[in-house]
Amino acid sequence: MKEIKIGLIGWGTVGAGVTRILQKNSALISRRLGARLRLVRVADLNLKRDRGMKLAPGILTRDAARIIEDPEIDIVVELIGGLDPAEGMVISSLRGGKRVVTANKALLAERGKTLFREAGQVRRRIFFEASVGGGIPIIKIIREGLSANRISSILGIINGTTNYILTRMSEEGITLAAAVRGAKKAGYAEKNPALDLEGIDSAHKLALLSSLAFGGWADFSRIYREGINEITDEDIAYTAGLGYTIKLLAVAKQSPSGADLRVHPTLVPRRHLLSAVNGIFNAVYLEGDFSKSQIFQGEGAGQGPTASAVVADLMEAGREILSGNDSTPPFIATDRDLKLAPIGEVVCRHYLRIPVIDRPGVLARIASILGAGGISIDSVIQRQRYKRGLVPVILMTNQAREKALQTALDKISHLEVVRGTPVRIRVED
Ligand code: HSE
Repeated sequence: MKEIKIGLIGWGTVGAGVTRILQKNSALISRRLGARLRLVRVADLNLKRDRGMKLAPGILTRDAARIIEDPEIDIVVELIGGLDPAEGMVISSLRGGKRVVTANKALLAERGKTLFREAGQVRRRIFFEASVGGGIPIIKIIREGLSANRISSILGIINGTTNYILTRMSEEGITLAAAVRGAKKAGYAEKNPALDLEGIDSAHKLALLSSLAFGGWADFSRIYREGINEITDEDIAYTAGLGYTIKLLAVAKQSPSGADLRVHPTLVPRRHLLSAVNGIFNAVYLEGDFSKSQIFQGEGAGQGPTASAVVADLMEAGREILSGNDSTPPFIATDRDLKLAPIGEVVCRHYLRIPVIDRPGVLARIASILGAGGISIDSVIQRQRYKRGLVPVILMTNQAREKALQTALDKISHLEVVRGTPVRIRVED
Protein backbone atom coordinates (compact mmCIF):
# COMPACT_ATOMS: atom_id res chain seq x y z
CA MET A 1 0.00 0.00 0.00
CA LYS A 2 1.27 3.49 -0.89
CA GLU A 3 2.47 5.64 2.02
CA ILE A 4 1.92 9.35 2.46
CA LYS A 5 4.50 10.89 4.76
CA ILE A 6 3.48 13.44 7.32
CA GLY A 7 5.43 15.83 9.54
CA LEU A 8 3.66 17.44 12.49
CA ILE A 9 4.86 20.73 13.99
CA GLY A 10 3.43 21.45 17.46
CA TRP A 11 2.65 18.49 19.71
CA GLY A 12 0.25 20.24 22.08
CA THR A 13 -3.37 19.38 22.89
CA VAL A 14 -4.55 19.13 19.27
CA GLY A 15 -1.25 17.63 18.04
CA ALA A 16 -1.52 14.85 20.60
CA GLY A 17 -5.10 14.26 19.43
CA VAL A 18 -3.86 13.90 15.85
CA THR A 19 -1.20 11.35 16.78
CA ARG A 20 -3.80 9.44 18.81
CA ILE A 21 -6.27 9.26 15.88
CA LEU A 22 -3.50 8.22 13.48
CA GLN A 23 -2.58 5.37 15.85
CA LYS A 24 -6.03 4.24 16.93
CA ASN A 25 -7.85 4.50 13.59
CA SER A 26 -4.91 3.66 11.37
CA ALA A 27 -6.50 0.61 9.68
CA LEU A 28 -9.80 2.40 9.05
CA ILE A 29 -8.04 5.47 7.60
CA SER A 30 -5.87 3.32 5.29
CA ARG A 31 -8.93 1.40 4.09
CA ARG A 32 -10.87 4.57 3.32
CA LEU A 33 -7.97 6.39 1.73
CA GLY A 34 -6.36 3.50 -0.10
CA ALA A 35 -2.98 4.59 1.28
CA ARG A 36 -1.26 4.72 4.64
CA LEU A 37 -0.79 8.04 6.44
CA ARG A 38 2.60 7.62 8.09
CA LEU A 39 3.74 10.10 10.71
CA VAL A 40 7.48 10.30 10.14
CA ARG A 41 8.38 13.25 12.35
CA VAL A 42 6.89 15.35 15.17
CA ALA A 43 8.53 18.62 16.23
CA ASP A 44 7.94 20.34 19.56
CA LEU A 45 10.12 22.43 21.84
CA ASN A 46 8.94 20.44 24.84
CA LEU A 47 10.21 16.86 24.58
CA LYS A 48 9.37 15.98 28.18
CA ARG A 49 5.66 16.70 28.65
CA ASP A 50 3.48 13.62 29.10
CA ARG A 51 0.90 13.53 26.29
CA GLY A 52 -0.53 10.22 27.51
CA MET A 53 0.93 8.33 24.55
CA LYS A 54 4.22 7.16 23.06
CA LEU A 55 5.77 7.80 19.65
CA ALA A 56 8.17 5.36 18.01
CA PRO A 57 11.84 6.18 18.77
CA GLY A 58 13.43 8.85 16.58
CA ILE A 59 10.17 10.54 15.57
CA LEU A 60 10.17 13.37 18.12
CA THR A 61 12.54 16.29 17.57
CA ARG A 62 12.91 19.90 18.73
CA ASP A 63 13.87 20.98 15.23
CA ALA A 64 10.99 21.91 12.89
CA ALA A 65 13.45 22.36 9.99
CA ARG A 66 13.85 18.57 9.96
CA ILE A 67 10.24 18.47 8.74
CA ILE A 68 10.10 21.55 6.53
CA GLU A 69 13.34 20.72 4.74
CA ASP A 70 12.79 16.98 4.40
CA PRO A 71 12.03 16.29 0.71
CA GLU A 72 10.46 12.94 1.65
CA ILE A 73 7.63 14.58 3.61
CA ASP A 74 4.42 15.12 1.61
CA ILE A 75 2.23 16.98 4.10
CA VAL A 76 3.16 19.38 6.91
CA VAL A 77 0.69 19.86 9.78
CA GLU A 78 1.21 23.25 11.44
CA LEU A 79 -0.24 23.29 14.96
CA ILE A 80 1.95 25.80 16.77
CA GLY A 81 -0.56 28.64 16.37
CA GLY A 82 0.18 32.38 16.28
CA LEU A 83 1.61 34.43 13.43
CA ASP A 84 5.38 33.95 13.69
CA PRO A 85 7.22 31.70 13.16
CA ALA A 86 4.17 29.83 11.83
CA GLU A 87 3.89 31.98 8.69
CA GLY A 88 7.49 31.32 7.64
CA MET A 89 7.05 27.59 8.24
CA VAL A 90 3.93 27.46 6.07
CA ILE A 91 5.54 29.44 3.24
CA SER A 92 8.74 27.33 3.28
CA SER A 93 6.69 24.12 3.31
CA LEU A 94 4.58 25.24 0.33
CA ARG A 95 7.66 26.34 -1.59
CA GLY A 96 9.18 22.93 -0.86
CA GLY A 97 6.22 21.33 -2.68
CA LYS A 98 4.35 20.18 0.42
CA ARG A 99 0.65 20.42 1.19
CA VAL A 100 -0.06 22.21 4.47
CA VAL A 101 -2.77 21.36 6.99
CA THR A 102 -3.34 23.93 9.72
CA ALA A 103 -5.74 24.87 12.52
CA ASN A 104 -4.22 28.35 12.71
CA LYS A 105 -7.16 30.74 12.35
CA ALA A 106 -5.14 33.76 13.52
CA LEU A 107 -2.53 33.26 10.80
CA LEU A 108 -5.07 32.69 8.02
CA ALA A 109 -7.35 35.55 9.09
CA GLU A 110 -4.53 38.07 9.41
CA ARG A 111 -2.16 36.98 6.65
CA GLY A 112 -4.35 34.67 4.55
CA LYS A 113 -4.41 36.84 1.47
CA THR A 114 -0.64 36.57 1.01
CA LEU A 115 -0.46 32.95 2.08
CA PHE A 116 -3.19 31.74 -0.27
CA ARG A 117 -1.68 33.75 -3.12
CA GLU A 118 1.63 32.02 -2.45
CA ALA A 119 -0.14 28.62 -2.33
CA GLY A 120 -1.81 29.36 -5.68
CA GLN A 121 1.52 30.29 -7.26
CA VAL A 122 3.24 27.07 -6.19
CA ARG A 123 0.07 25.01 -6.83
CA ARG A 124 -0.09 23.56 -3.36
CA ARG A 125 -3.16 23.79 -1.15
CA ILE A 126 -3.53 24.93 2.44
CA PHE A 127 -6.18 22.83 4.22
CA PHE A 128 -7.75 24.53 7.21
CA GLU A 129 -10.96 22.75 8.25
CA ALA A 130 -9.78 22.64 11.90
CA SER A 131 -9.43 26.41 12.06
CA VAL A 132 -13.19 27.04 12.44
CA GLY A 133 -15.82 25.13 14.38
CA GLY A 134 -13.64 22.28 15.73
CA GLY A 135 -15.26 19.06 14.56
CA ILE A 136 -18.01 20.75 12.45
CA PRO A 137 -16.94 20.50 8.77
CA ILE A 138 -18.12 24.06 8.18
CA ILE A 139 -15.43 24.98 5.64
CA LYS A 140 -16.43 22.02 3.48
CA ILE A 141 -20.10 22.87 3.93
CA ILE A 142 -19.63 26.42 2.62
CA ARG A 143 -17.03 25.53 0.02
CA GLU A 144 -18.73 22.43 -1.35
CA GLY A 145 -22.20 21.71 0.05
CA LEU A 146 -23.55 25.24 -0.38
CA SER A 147 -21.40 26.29 -3.32
CA ALA A 148 -24.41 26.86 -5.59
CA ASN A 149 -25.80 29.58 -3.30
CA ARG A 150 -25.35 33.24 -2.60
CA ILE A 151 -25.01 33.26 1.17
CA SER A 152 -26.71 36.29 2.69
CA SER A 153 -26.04 35.78 6.39
CA ILE A 154 -24.09 33.79 8.93
CA LEU A 155 -24.72 33.76 12.67
CA GLY A 156 -22.22 31.73 14.62
CA ILE A 157 -21.30 30.66 18.09
CA ILE A 158 -17.74 29.91 17.06
CA ASN A 159 -15.74 30.14 20.25
CA GLY A 160 -16.21 27.14 22.52
CA THR A 161 -14.43 28.69 25.50
CA THR A 162 -16.67 31.73 25.81
CA ASN A 163 -19.77 29.62 25.19
CA TYR A 164 -18.67 27.25 27.95
CA ILE A 165 -18.05 30.24 30.26
CA LEU A 166 -21.40 31.94 29.56
CA THR A 167 -23.23 28.62 29.97
CA ARG A 168 -21.62 27.89 33.34
CA MET A 169 -22.26 31.45 34.53
CA SER A 170 -25.91 31.20 33.59
CA GLU A 171 -26.57 27.62 34.70
CA GLU A 172 -24.45 27.47 37.86
CA GLY A 173 -24.23 31.14 38.79
CA ILE A 174 -20.39 30.94 38.98
CA THR A 175 -18.17 33.95 38.32
CA LEU A 176 -16.42 34.71 35.03
CA ALA A 177 -13.01 34.02 36.66
CA ALA A 178 -14.07 30.58 37.97
CA ALA A 179 -15.52 29.63 34.60
CA VAL A 180 -12.31 30.74 32.82
CA ARG A 181 -10.30 28.47 35.13
CA GLY A 182 -12.60 25.56 34.19
CA ALA A 183 -12.16 26.20 30.46
CA LYS A 184 -8.37 26.32 30.77
CA LYS A 185 -8.28 23.09 32.77
CA ALA A 186 -10.38 21.33 30.14
CA GLY A 187 -7.93 22.39 27.37
CA TYR A 188 -10.45 24.55 25.47
CA ALA A 189 -8.95 28.02 25.91
CA GLU A 190 -6.22 29.52 23.75
CA LYS A 191 -2.70 29.75 25.25
CA ASN A 192 -3.59 33.40 25.76
CA PRO A 193 -7.24 33.25 26.92
CA ALA A 194 -7.68 36.97 26.14
CA LEU A 195 -8.02 35.83 22.51
CA ASP A 196 -11.18 33.97 23.52
CA LEU A 197 -12.54 36.45 26.08
CA GLU A 198 -12.08 39.56 23.93
CA GLY A 199 -13.74 38.00 20.89
CA ILE A 200 -10.50 37.97 18.86
CA ASP A 201 -10.65 34.22 18.19
CA SER A 202 -14.29 34.53 17.04
CA ALA A 203 -13.34 37.47 14.79
CA HIS A 204 -10.51 35.43 13.23
CA LYS A 205 -12.96 32.63 12.46
CA LEU A 206 -15.60 35.08 11.21
CA ALA A 207 -13.06 36.61 8.83
CA LEU A 208 -12.45 33.17 7.32
CA LEU A 209 -16.13 32.19 7.11
CA SER A 210 -17.21 35.49 5.59
CA SER A 211 -14.31 35.61 3.11
CA LEU A 212 -15.29 32.17 1.92
CA ALA A 213 -19.05 32.75 1.93
CA PHE A 214 -19.05 36.24 0.41
CA GLY A 215 -16.19 35.68 -2.07
CA GLY A 216 -13.74 38.42 -1.06
CA TRP A 217 -11.17 38.99 1.64
CA ALA A 218 -12.47 40.38 4.94
CA ASP A 219 -10.02 42.73 6.61
CA PHE A 220 -9.77 41.21 10.09
CA SER A 221 -8.53 44.45 11.66
CA ARG A 222 -11.78 46.20 10.66
CA ILE A 223 -14.20 43.64 12.11
CA TYR A 224 -16.15 45.25 14.96
CA ARG A 225 -15.52 43.30 18.16
CA GLU A 226 -16.58 43.22 21.80
CA GLY A 227 -15.78 40.36 24.17
CA ILE A 228 -17.51 38.93 27.24
CA ASN A 229 -15.37 40.49 29.97
CA GLU A 230 -18.11 42.95 30.96
CA ILE A 231 -20.92 40.39 31.17
CA THR A 232 -22.20 40.09 34.73
CA ASP A 233 -24.41 37.59 36.50
CA GLU A 234 -26.84 40.48 36.97
CA ASP A 235 -27.36 40.94 33.22
CA ILE A 236 -27.55 37.19 32.72
CA ALA A 237 -30.38 37.07 35.29
CA TYR A 238 -32.29 40.11 33.96
CA THR A 239 -32.12 39.01 30.35
CA ALA A 240 -33.13 35.45 31.26
CA GLY A 241 -36.22 36.98 32.91
CA LEU A 242 -36.97 38.73 29.61
CA GLY A 243 -36.74 35.42 27.68
CA TYR A 244 -33.19 35.73 26.28
CA THR A 245 -29.85 33.93 26.53
CA ILE A 246 -26.57 35.85 26.21
CA LYS A 247 -24.28 34.40 23.53
CA LEU A 248 -21.04 35.69 22.03
CA LEU A 249 -22.29 35.83 18.45
CA ALA A 250 -20.27 36.27 15.28
CA VAL A 251 -22.46 37.95 12.69
CA ALA A 252 -21.89 38.34 8.94
CA LYS A 253 -24.67 39.85 6.83
CA GLN A 254 -24.75 41.20 3.32
CA SER A 255 -26.20 44.70 3.58
CA PRO A 256 -26.70 47.53 1.08
CA SER A 257 -23.71 49.37 2.59
CA GLY A 258 -21.41 46.33 2.44
CA ALA A 259 -20.67 43.25 4.52
CA ASP A 260 -21.77 43.80 8.11
CA LEU A 261 -19.21 41.83 10.16
CA ARG A 262 -19.16 41.92 13.94
CA VAL A 263 -18.58 39.89 17.09
CA HIS A 264 -20.28 40.89 20.34
CA PRO A 265 -22.35 39.55 23.21
CA THR A 266 -25.88 39.21 21.88
CA LEU A 267 -29.29 38.44 23.33
CA VAL A 268 -30.75 35.48 21.50
CA PRO A 269 -34.45 34.72 22.12
CA ARG A 270 -34.95 31.43 23.92
CA ARG A 271 -37.05 30.08 21.06
CA HIS A 272 -34.10 30.39 18.62
CA LEU A 273 -32.06 27.21 18.09
CA LEU A 274 -28.81 29.09 18.80
CA SER A 275 -29.93 29.84 22.35
CA ALA A 276 -29.88 26.12 23.15
CA VAL A 277 -26.27 25.70 21.97
CA ASN A 278 -24.49 25.36 25.27
CA GLY A 279 -21.14 24.53 26.84
CA ILE A 280 -18.30 23.78 24.49
CA PHE A 281 -20.64 23.41 21.51
CA ASN A 282 -20.34 25.67 18.46
CA ALA A 283 -23.09 26.27 15.93
CA VAL A 284 -23.24 28.07 12.62
CA TYR A 285 -26.52 29.26 11.13
CA LEU A 286 -26.39 30.11 7.40
CA GLU A 287 -28.90 31.51 4.96
CA GLY A 288 -28.46 30.86 1.24
CA ASP A 289 -30.72 32.05 -1.57
CA PHE A 290 -31.70 28.50 -2.53
CA SER A 291 -30.54 26.37 0.40
CA LYS A 292 -32.57 28.65 2.77
CA SER A 293 -31.78 28.34 6.49
CA GLN A 294 -29.37 25.71 7.75
CA ILE A 295 -27.80 25.19 11.15
CA PHE A 296 -24.76 23.06 11.94
CA GLN A 297 -23.76 22.18 15.46
CA GLY A 298 -20.99 20.24 17.14
CA GLU A 299 -18.15 20.39 19.64
CA GLY A 300 -16.11 23.40 18.62
CA ALA A 301 -12.98 23.10 20.72
CA GLY A 302 -10.94 20.52 22.54
CA GLN A 303 -8.62 17.76 21.52
CA GLY A 304 -10.82 15.16 19.81
CA PRO A 305 -13.10 17.31 17.60
CA THR A 306 -10.29 19.60 16.38
CA ALA A 307 -7.90 16.70 15.74
CA SER A 308 -10.67 14.91 13.85
CA ALA A 309 -10.89 17.88 11.44
CA VAL A 310 -7.08 17.90 11.03
CA VAL A 311 -7.01 14.20 10.13
CA ALA A 312 -9.93 14.63 7.69
CA ASP A 313 -7.81 17.30 5.97
CA LEU A 314 -4.83 14.94 5.92
CA MET A 315 -7.02 12.41 4.15
CA GLU A 316 -8.25 15.01 1.66
CA ALA A 317 -4.70 16.13 0.97
CA GLY A 318 -3.78 12.46 0.64
CA ARG A 319 -6.50 11.92 -1.99
CA GLU A 320 -5.18 14.91 -3.91
CA ILE A 321 -1.67 13.44 -3.86
CA LEU A 322 -2.93 10.01 -4.94
CA SER A 323 -4.87 11.50 -7.85
CA GLY A 324 -1.93 13.67 -8.92
CA ASN A 325 -4.21 16.71 -8.89
CA ASP A 326 -2.32 19.95 -8.31
CA SER A 327 -4.91 22.24 -9.77
CA THR A 328 -7.63 22.57 -7.11
CA PRO A 329 -8.26 26.31 -6.75
CA PRO A 330 -7.05 27.84 -3.50
CA PHE A 331 -9.30 29.17 -0.75
CA ILE A 332 -11.06 31.88 -2.71
CA ALA A 333 -9.94 32.38 -6.27
CA THR A 334 -9.83 36.16 -6.05
CA ASP A 335 -7.77 39.05 -4.76
CA ARG A 336 -10.92 41.12 -4.21
CA ASP A 337 -11.41 42.72 -0.79
CA LEU A 338 -14.86 42.74 0.79
CA LYS A 339 -16.37 46.16 1.27
CA LEU A 340 -17.29 46.35 4.95
CA ALA A 341 -20.34 48.21 6.25
CA PRO A 342 -19.61 50.73 9.03
CA ILE A 343 -20.84 49.57 12.45
CA GLY A 344 -22.75 52.85 12.87
CA GLU A 345 -25.22 51.74 10.19
CA VAL A 346 -26.21 48.49 11.92
CA VAL A 347 -29.86 48.41 12.99
CA CYS A 348 -31.04 46.17 15.83
CA ARG A 349 -32.87 46.18 19.15
CA HIS A 350 -30.93 46.84 22.34
CA TYR A 351 -31.09 45.91 26.02
CA LEU A 352 -29.97 48.73 28.31
CA ARG A 353 -29.29 48.62 32.05
CA ILE A 354 -28.74 52.04 33.52
CA PRO A 355 -27.86 52.47 37.22
CA VAL A 356 -29.65 55.63 38.41
CA ILE A 357 -30.63 57.47 41.57
CA ASP A 358 -34.13 56.44 42.63
CA ARG A 359 -35.88 59.79 42.24
CA PRO A 360 -39.01 61.04 40.38
CA GLY A 361 -38.42 62.22 36.82
CA VAL A 362 -35.27 60.15 36.14
CA LEU A 363 -36.98 57.76 33.77
CA ALA A 364 -38.55 60.69 31.90
CA ARG A 365 -35.10 62.24 31.31
CA ILE A 366 -33.72 58.99 29.91
CA ALA A 367 -36.81 58.48 27.74
CA SER A 368 -36.57 62.01 26.42
CA ILE A 369 -32.93 61.54 25.29
CA LEU A 370 -33.85 58.28 23.56
CA GLY A 371 -36.94 59.91 21.99
CA ALA A 372 -34.91 62.86 20.71
CA GLY A 373 -32.56 60.34 19.04
CA GLY A 374 -35.51 58.67 17.31
CA ILE A 375 -35.19 55.55 19.48
CA SER A 376 -38.45 54.09 20.64
CA ILE A 377 -38.75 52.08 23.83
CA ASP A 378 -40.33 48.65 23.77
CA SER A 379 -40.45 47.96 27.52
CA VAL A 380 -39.08 49.19 30.84
CA ILE A 381 -38.54 47.33 34.11
CA GLN A 382 -37.35 48.64 37.41
CA ARG A 383 -37.54 45.96 40.06
CA GLN A 384 -34.63 45.73 42.34
CA ARG A 385 -32.86 48.32 44.46
CA TYR A 386 -29.09 48.52 44.81
CA LYS A 387 -27.47 49.95 47.92
CA ARG A 388 -27.42 53.71 48.66
CA GLY A 389 -30.70 54.56 46.88
CA LEU A 390 -29.61 53.38 43.41
CA VAL A 391 -31.82 51.35 41.10
CA PRO A 392 -31.15 49.68 37.78
CA VAL A 393 -33.47 50.85 35.00
CA ILE A 394 -33.80 48.07 32.42
CA LEU A 395 -34.98 49.10 28.96
CA MET A 396 -35.57 47.19 25.75
CA THR A 397 -35.56 49.43 22.69
CA ASN A 398 -37.23 48.83 19.35
CA GLN A 399 -35.05 48.67 16.22
CA ALA A 400 -32.52 51.50 16.37
CA ARG A 401 -29.51 52.53 14.34
CA GLU A 402 -26.20 51.94 16.15
CA LYS A 403 -25.01 55.52 15.59
CA ALA A 404 -28.16 57.03 17.14
CA LEU A 405 -28.12 54.60 20.03
CA GLN A 406 -24.46 55.32 20.80
CA THR A 407 -25.03 59.09 20.77
CA ALA A 408 -28.02 58.73 23.12
CA LEU A 409 -26.09 56.42 25.45
CA ASP A 410 -23.23 58.93 25.70
CA LYS A 411 -25.71 61.65 26.69
CA ILE A 412 -27.45 59.35 29.19
CA SER A 413 -24.18 58.35 30.84
CA HIS A 414 -23.43 62.06 31.45
CA LEU A 415 -26.71 62.71 33.29
CA GLU A 416 -25.99 63.57 36.90
CA VAL A 417 -28.64 61.03 38.04
CA VAL A 418 -26.77 58.19 36.33
CA ARG A 419 -24.26 56.52 38.63
CA GLY A 420 -21.96 54.06 36.88
CA THR A 421 -21.60 52.99 33.29
CA PRO A 422 -24.76 51.97 31.43
CA VAL A 423 -24.69 48.45 29.99
CA ARG A 424 -25.87 47.81 26.43
CA ILE A 425 -26.32 44.43 24.77
CA ARG A 426 -27.52 44.05 21.18
CA VAL A 427 -30.46 41.76 20.41
CA GLU A 428 -30.64 39.39 17.42
CA ASP A 429 -34.27 38.53 16.75
N1 HSE B 1 -10.06 28.56 21.94
C1 HSE B 1 -10.84 28.10 20.84
C2 HSE B 1 -12.28 27.98 21.28
C3 HSE B 1 -10.31 26.76 20.39
O1 HSE B 1 -12.55 27.99 22.47
O2 HSE B 1 -13.16 27.88 20.44
C4 HSE B 1 -10.90 26.26 19.12
O3 HSE B 1 -10.60 27.09 18.04
